[in-house]
Amino acid sequence: MHESFTVAGLTLQNRVLVASGTFGYGDEVPQLVDVNKLGGIVTKSLSMKPRDGNPAPRIAETPSGMLNSIGLANIGVKKFIEEKIPKLSTFSCAVIANIAASSVEEYCGVLEKLDPFEAIAGFEINVSCPNVKEGGLSFGTDKEKVALITKELRRRTKKPLMIKLTPNVTHISEFALAAESEGADAVSVINTIIGMAIDIRTRKTKLSTVTGGLSGPAIKPIALAKVYEVYRAVKIPVIGIGGITSWEDAVEFLLAGASAVQVGTYNFVVPSAGVTIAEGIKSFCEQQSISDVGKLVGAVEAKRDLSVIESWL
Ligand code: SIN
Repeated sequence: MHESFTVAGLTLQNRVLVASGTFGYGDEVPQLVDVNKLGGIVTKSLSMKPRDGNPAPRIAETPSGMLNSIGLANIGVKKFIEEKIPKLSTFSCAVIANIAASSVEEYCGVLEKLDPFEAIAGFEINVSCPNVKEGGLSFGTDKEKVALITKELRRRTKKPLMIKLTPNVTHISEFALAAESEGADAVSVINTIIGMAIDIRTRKTKLSTVTGGLSGPAIKPIALAKVYEVYRAVKIPVIGIGGITSWEDAVEFLLAGASAVQVGTYNFVVPSAGVTIAEGIKSFCEQQSISDVGKLVGAVEAKRDLSVIESWL
């Protein structure tokens, strides 16, 4: 079975990418992972200027998960172009640049700087970081802002444009529809869920910023439900993210409606997880005589009449 396929205008050799913020800029790990066996790499969010991010502590372990409050620390787009793109150009997997910004102008500026580079196959737009005062959630929880950012970026690139959505809203599908209406090629579902942890002895919060973004297996059922909701609302592809640690998890996301998945937090445990998961999906399809992985997308069968469930979404 040859898996190579096109999703949202991206040609991928398989349906497993590594998520932004969990794989650096993709160039640090080749001694640990054969990156060319991944469907793609999504870079850490890039902003116009370098950012130091939030003060420590900005990571806390939680049951089956992790809280982070990195605050979009990154090297800035100039250094990325000078120091990272030459190495990324040698990869055969798709490299997707994730962009974060505190204004519409900044999103546009970063995208315009990256767009000419052949090494960048497409863009994922972070409108969902819960750890910054400007941008992030303040954009991602405002449908008009999501639509405006998508519209302005769409005008500036012909490359695949994905909008990474926050689950910290009542109906995520409304935000997916806003992105779709202004020309997004796909939506990435989901970014982290706002959470908090306290050290009971010091009575201090475990993160310097009090709250942070929860990721890891703890959020997988929530992410699956959001993918299912969005898949039923939009026509553009959904990229599923949230607590994936195995090929079985990935297949669940495909069945819920994801056309491809991103492995995130689990990369910190097993950096080569994305490759193993891609191989696992392939073997599963072979064992099940599924000739095209795409046949799994959205193929979930509800235990009861779907119309009942849909009225809840
Ligand atoms: C961060 O840098 O704070 C995490 C990125 C994100 O949640 O989008």
